[in-house]
Amino acid sequence: MAAIHLKDIAKTYSNGKTVIEDLNLEIKDRSFTVLLGPSGCGKTTALRMIAGLEEVSAGQLYIGDQNVTKTEPGERGLAMVFQNYAIYPHMTVRRNIEFGLKNMKYLKDEIEKRIKQVVGMVGLQEYVNAKPSTLSGGQRQRIALARAISKKPEVFLMDEPLSNLDAKLRNQMRSELIDLHRSLKSTFVFVTHDQIEAMTMATDIVIFNYGRIMQQGTPKEVYENPANLFVATFIGDPGMNTIAFPGIGTVGFRPQKVKLTMPADFQGAKVAGMVITKEMLGMDHLYHVATGLGTIIMKSEADLSVDEAVQLYISEQDLYFFDSNEQRTADAMLIDSVLNTVKAADGVTMTKHHLAGSVYG
Ligand SMILES: Nc1ncnc2c1ncn2[C@@H]1O[C@H](COP(=O)(O)OP(=O)(O)OP(=O)(O)O)[C@@H](O)[C@H]1O
Ligand SMILES: [Mg+2]
Repeated sequence: MAAIHLKDIAKTYSNGKTVIEDLNLEIKDRSFTVLLGPSGCGKTTALRMIAGLEEVSAGQLYIGDQNVTKTEPGERGLAMVFQNYAIYPHMTVRRNIEFGLKNMKYLKDEIEKRIKQVVGMVGLQEYVNAKPSTLSGGQRQRIALARAISKKPEVFLMDEPLSNLDAKLRNQMRSELIDLHRSLKSTFVFVTHDQIEAMTMATDIVIFNYGRIMQQGTPKEVYENPANLFVATFIGDPGMNTIAFPGIGTVGFRPQKVKLTMPADFQGAKVAGMVITKEMLGMDHLYHVATGLGTIIMKSEADLSVDEAVQLYISEQDLYFFDSNEQRTADAMLIDSVLNTVKAADGVTMTKHHLAGSVYG
């Protein structure tokens, strides 16, 4: 059992800076949990507290049913890969891996078997006798991963372990980590500020901002059902369009849901606009469109030109509403007021809508 439970955890660094005030987090046994959030929000701090490399200032930490708040890092049954991979530069790849296993007092045959297995996994077979100083940043990072994997820990903590890899290798390592998670059957806690990494690998995502949990859920849940504006704009590539009406609320919709032709049985807002920028994204294009509601970002396969006049269709079922505290809301009065304001904007026509129970013509 290797669920991890952070209970009322606070962290104030010795310089007096409080990074985490009151964190309550349950990481499920055998989950692949990704801690996601912007730079400086406290992800590494949280991970280092779980590892025991950083003391908690208040609260209790459990791994399984053990209270490990005061337990030494080496006694917590976990392995960690750091943001700045800590490998020994003077030791060969083989020695770097062997070192940890010898400390764990494994037999020679077992050590050999594991080294062979993990260097294969990270694609470093040819380099077992090389020194890290002769390897690239990505290869060094893979040594750190291999060394951690070789310990077959119950809990595997990773702090941006893919950040120094090129795009192709990063993709490959993502799939490797998903497979690894399946085969090791241990709990993975993976820190990143890259939401694509999070969305592709996680069984559970915990979205942080300023040391607080903004939402925890499956990738699908946080994408389809963001609990607040922060998550709505942080998740997605790019995040949601949001149009704020001060004192009333905010309406949001995904760039992928903005259509150029009227969908069947359309109910929603038809918005006149003009393309102002165009960006090529492989199959899709990303457009900025100037409208009476402000700039709307649209992701579409259609090939438009800058300065082209367009009609945008945004279906009511694709709209999300947020209150003045930036929380998701289903409040009918608020939705009505927001939609009335949308409807009053230049170049907008609204078909009947049913969201708030009233009818517009
Ligand atoms: N040893 C320390 N002493 C004082 N403040 C620290 C210390 N380590 C981190 N901090 C501060 O704590 C905050 C959170 O840092 P942390 O490294 O946990 O962020 P992060 O979410 O991992 O960011 P990144 O994505 O950039 O790695 C930052 O404001 C940082 O300046
Ligand atoms: Mg960090």
